[in-house]
Amino acid sequence: MAGKNPVVTILTSLALTAIASAPVSGETSVTPPVTIKELMVGAIEPASNALWAIALEENEPKTAEQWKAVEHEAIQLLAATSAMSLGGSGPSDKKLAQHEKWQEYSRQMAEITMDILKAVRDRNYEAAMDASNFLIEPCGACHSAFPMESR
Ligand code: HEC
Repeated sequence: MAGKNPVVTILTSLALTAIASAPVSGETSVTPPVTIKELMVGAIEPASNALWAIALEENEPKTAEQWKAVEHEAIQLLAATSAMSLGGSGPSDKKLAQHEKWQEYSRQMAEITMDILKAVRDRNYEAAMDASNFLIEPCGACHSAFPMESR
């Protein structure tokens, strides 16, 4: 197992802090200059696809380098989830992030991603696949709670 990476530890605690202190109502102090859609397409979708892809037998990570690559995807997803919880720069993105449900699904996604990250750091393939199977839930729940047509 890899030793504790200080950068990763910092990132994880940053993500937790952002999620814990994300406003349910009121002003966000920092809004990333990225729309929710850009964040989805540019970060959340590619990172989660990479994590789901390990379920294919030929993608099972075996070497240290392959595990490192999967670990990086989980870290990217965690960082993107943290950014998502703050909202985005799109016209209605700020309002979105103030919904209680937005925060709930963001937190759920962060927790699942942390489970994936832990399994990957433990180099536990089965546990990583199990955890990544749950990842689809917050995606679907949030997309049905905040459909495009309603905004
Ligand atoms: C907290 C809410 C939330 C969660 C969780 C969430 N999304 Fe999204 N997603 C949105 C919203 C809102 C949009 C629409 C953004 C827009 O078009 O303005 C969106 C759009 C998208 C799009 C773009 C669809 C298009 O119009 O082309 C993709 C791809 C996507 N999400 C993937 C994911 C995946 C994969 C996950 C889970 C790993 C996920 N999302 C989790 C809120 C969420």
